[in-house]
Amino acid sequence: MAEPRENWSGRTGFIIAAIGSAVGLGNIWRFPYVAYDNGGGAFMVPYVIALLTAAIPLLFLDYIVGHKYRSAPPRAYKKMVKSAQFVGWWQTLVSFVIAIYYAAVIVWAGSYMFFSFGQKWGEDTTTFFVSDFVQHTGELTSVFVPQMFTGLIIVWALSILIMFGGIRKGVELANKICIPLLMVLFGIMVFKALNLPGSEIGLNAFFEPNWARMSDPNVWLAAYGHVFFSLSVGFGIMVTYASYLKKNTNLTGAGLVVGFANSSFELIAGIGIFAAIGFMAQSTGQDVSEVASGGVGLAFFVFPKIISTMGASGDFVGFLFFGSLVIAGISSLISILEVPISAFQDKFDWSRKKAVTVIVGVCAIISISAFSTGSSLVLVDVIDHFANNIGIVAGGLLSIIWVTWFNRHKIPGLLAHSNRISSIKLGGAWVFMLTVITPTVLTIALGMKLVDLVQNPYEGYSTTILLLFGWGVVVFFGLGAFILTRMRGVHDDEDDKSRLIDDTI
Ligand code: PFF
Repeated sequence: MAEPRENWSGRTGFIIAAIGSAVGLGNIWRFPYVAYDNGGGAFMVPYVIALLTAAIPLLFLDYIVGHKYRSAPPRAYKKMVKSAQFVGWWQTLVSFVIAIYYAAVIVWAGSYMFFSFGQKWGEDTTTFFVSDFVQHTGELTSVFVPQMFTGLIIVWALSILIMFGGIRKGVELANKICIPLLMVLFGIMVFKALNLPGSEIGLNAFFEPNWARMSDPNVWLAAYGHVFFSLSVGFGIMVTYASYLKKNTNLTGAGLVVGFANSSFELIAGIGIFAAIGFMAQSTGQDVSEVASGGVGLAFFVFPKIISTMGASGDFVGFLFFGSLVIAGISSLISILEVPISAFQDKFDWSRKKAVTVIVGVCAIISISAFSTGSSLVLVDVIDHFANNIGIVAGGLLSIIWVTWFNRHKIPGLLAHSNRISSIKLGGAWVFMLTVITPTVLTIALGMKLVDLVQNPYEGYSTTILLLFGWGVVVFFGLGAFILTRMRGVHDDEDDKSRLIDDTI
């Protein structure tokens, strides 16, 4: 007998969890640099347009599908359109793979939280991270890194514990602790950064609008590319989270609150990061452009340098910064784990306990074996690039094409569902964004990326690495989704019947 579907305690619990998912590493280390690199203050224009015309409409679709069909992506899409189960499994497998390496990044940040005391990274922060800490060789290596092993055990043990707690006592509770803690830690970090001498130089560089860049299509593509990742749409996370909402929940209202909170957080992150970069530029007599960077480089090469420049008072700033990364990471990790857990519960009627043990157990074993080695940096870099640029983008695109293009007759039902319970009513504008603007942009982004990846091997890695962990991962999404779709699920007959009713509404 299946366990009854869980619920959030209320709309606030859901909103906090959705913010916990959306606010992740993307907000802290990705947004500031993408904005700076693509026109600074002027980037706000394509950014807001991308949010309103693509990310928020797709976020609404995720919410409506999850809530109307009360299931994780594979079963939710299947209840709507039989063949669309494949799309759901694609998104589920993307989530599964991302969880495996995301844990490693959390361990890097967690280790740096401790390295901050006494600034263990020394003078040459890049060599410390690359050679001494992750023991990167540029190739695959099985050399054992004990610190990664211990860290991964801790992160996975914590994840299992949270996920065992279920929706209310696990995911919701963890987010209710993480989000306020993140606001406090990050808030103090930004405040301290703003008080550093030279912070205004960084802020001027960050906000100075370069309007000429607005005519560059790549700037627009960067804006659209960023907003999907930032709002966690296209992973299946928002479909899953919305499936635990109670019957009459204001979906569009919640979506706007989450979108607004997420954007506010990234803007504040940009201010904090660039204030710190300005301080470093002034202290070392460099230009802001020489200091600024994003991603792994910003967090693990540049930020430790900034902290060292502050002298002993930097220890605390380092603790705040890396602590924020850990907390933002954990609340995103649990959101992404919920997708496969919920999907397997839906298909095979597994109990929560069994689903958590199997799914998180498998993720943990793969993650600990692969990322406790000197290969962690190569693996994170390659898998992340392919999973984000192809996995997520294709997942979002497939969901739109399948349910809105090939099955247009489903749109009125989705609209009616949302409008019956939501404050902001959706209509022709939403349908236009979702069926024309969003798929066009996603197709261009995906097409350009595919051509680029075929023509220029990513970061010059060897063909073996790229075939195994880049293209191989993409094949895994497709093949795995195909096999899981073909497998018989416990509720197949029931879902076929409910689809017939849904079709006549
Ligand atoms: N919205 C998240 C971020 O900005 O970092 C994206 C994300 C990444 C969510 C990884 C979940 C995850 F595991």
